[in-house]
Amino acid sequence: MTTTLPADLATLSDTARRLTQAGRGILAADESIRTMSARLENEDIPPSVTTRRDYRELLVTAEGLSESVSGVIWCDETFGQALSDDRPFPVAARELGILPGIKVDTGTKELPGHDGALITEGLDGLDDRLASYAERGAAFAKWRAVFDVATITPYTARANGHALARYAASCQAHGIVPIVEPEVLCNGGHSLGESARASRLALNAVFEEFAQAGVELSGIVLKPNFVTPGLAASAATARTVAAATFDVLRDEVPAAVAGIAFLSGGHPTEDACAFLDELKAVPARSWPVTFSFGRALVSEALSVWGGDPGKVKAAQEALLGNCRRAARTTR
Ligand code: 13P
Repeated sequence: MTTTLPADLATLSDTARRLTQAGRGILAADESIRTMSARLENEDIPPSVTTRRDYRELLVTAEGLSESVSGVIWCDETFGQALSDDRPFPVAARELGILPGIKVDTGTKELPGHDGALITEGLDGLDDRLASYAERGAAFAKWRAVFDVATITPYTARANGHALARYAASCQAHGIVPIVEPEVLCNGGHSLGESARASRLALNAVFEEFAQAGVELSGIVLKPNFVTPGLAASAATARTVAAATFDVLRDEVPAAVAGIAFLSGGHPTEDACAFLDELKAVPARSWPVTFSFGRALVSEALSVWGGDPGKVKAAQEALLGNCRRAARTTR
């Protein structure tokens, strides 16, 4: 098998390491226009281009954010917007010491004939979009595949793994580090064992497809779920979650992967931080481990802000508190 290595592997690996180095993690603020609008509405903030922009500006300009955050992910809308001082978001992020990232998948559709299992789309035209994002300063990208323990099969894992591999290879060809997110959802009443089985299946398919696609593992960041019982089932201790998560990752994630940054998946901030904290104590990990949380970092800030310009500082404090707390678990 011939593989074409990315043009500048050293730069990719360096970016992947910077994103996952101990002490900092990634802020996921890349909700689609639809999801972000729904979250604003939930807080009685009228959703609009402007309120979505104001909210993302509030997050990235929180003073000292770069002490606990290495990178921030946005959707296409935010990536193309400017702060109120006219600096484009990606330019401002770099000036603030934070690497800018872009979500490039276009969402999920049902795979016909597979009990509602989902496939993530966005490969058409991806190459041109990546070229444009690279030109505008993107250091990394994100693609999220979504699995449900009830519907994942070897086929649905492979189909999504294949899309992730094509995405990752394209990113690397453009000098962009791919964040690879095969998320096993934690909604539902499933057991820890079922989450582990589904996570293994997903990760195994991803890395088989990556090997065939020639993706350079030292230039990717893996963004997995914690292995937990479903949110509607009785909770497991953080130690049990960390042990189950590590068992799966140790068996399924090649040591060459540059780093791992977990999603929070709807777990409360405190739980997600406790899982990370326990994982840090697991000896002999092959990869650095940090966070790439969305809701666990931002939900409180959004609710404190509530669209009120007078509450920006308080919202930023809430964000910083959560980011610092998550970052401490990685040191
Ligand atoms: P959560 O941490 O809220 O799950 O979001 C992370 C993310 O980026 C989902 O794609």
